Amino acid sequence: MGIQITPSILTADFAALGAEIARIPGADWVHVDVMDNHFVPNLTFGPTMVEALARSSERPVDAHLMITDADRHAPAYVEAGAGSVTFHVEATAAPVRLAREIRAKGARASMALKPATPIEPYEDLLGELDMVLIMTVEPGFGGQSFLDLCLPKIRAARALLDKHGLEAWLQVDGGISLATIERCAEAGADVFVAGSAVFSADDPDAMVASLRQQAER
Ligand code: DX5
Ligand code: ZN
Repeated sequence: MGIQITPSILTADFAALGAEIARIPGADWVHVDVMDNHFVPNLTFGPTMVEALARSSERPVDAHLMITDADRHAPAYVEAGAGSVTFHVEATAAPVRLAREIRAKGARASMALKPATPIEPYEDLLGELDMVLIMTVEPGFGGQSFLDLCLPKIRAARALLDKHGLEAWLQVDGGISLATIERCAEAGADVFVAGSAVFSADDPDAMVASLRQQAER
């Protein structure tokens, strides 16, 4: 599949989301950060908003659910039209069942790990996933600094996927910019979420292209 760039609309203008998404035609996906004020101390969108974005955007929606009780709530985001649904392993009681349910309903199933959550305990369930998301900041807010301490986990996840011959994508999210994307690509990531780097740029679509170029080096 190669390198994919997935701008996060978390730092876009919420009053003009359609217009903001129209500014990034070169993006592969639109990353939508769903926050519930419980799993993270911030509140954003629900399934109704995801449904509207999925309907209006030409790019598929990559829904990142930072919500507790993912088992109960994640299926609604598939029904809302997200092409990929990421739940946090810290927020599910049954990751295998949930991944299977997301796939059965027709979306790509993805599992996210916060910075302090190791990948090794989940080696045996990687085959159930279409993507693994290694968070490179503590989830909750855009514009935070990239955590270098997450790089070994990106390498470990890449090694485990390769060891089992899996084609799941490896996504990174948090503090991704022209200054940090190369380190993540070198460690084995292939899907890059970037929020503030893209939406604070004068030309967001040119930034998407630059990030892609930097990751492909
Ligand atoms: C953080 C979110 C990210 C966020 C990234 O909890 O999951 O998707 O929007 O923003 P930047 O790229 O600014 O770190
Ligand atoms: Zn995110």
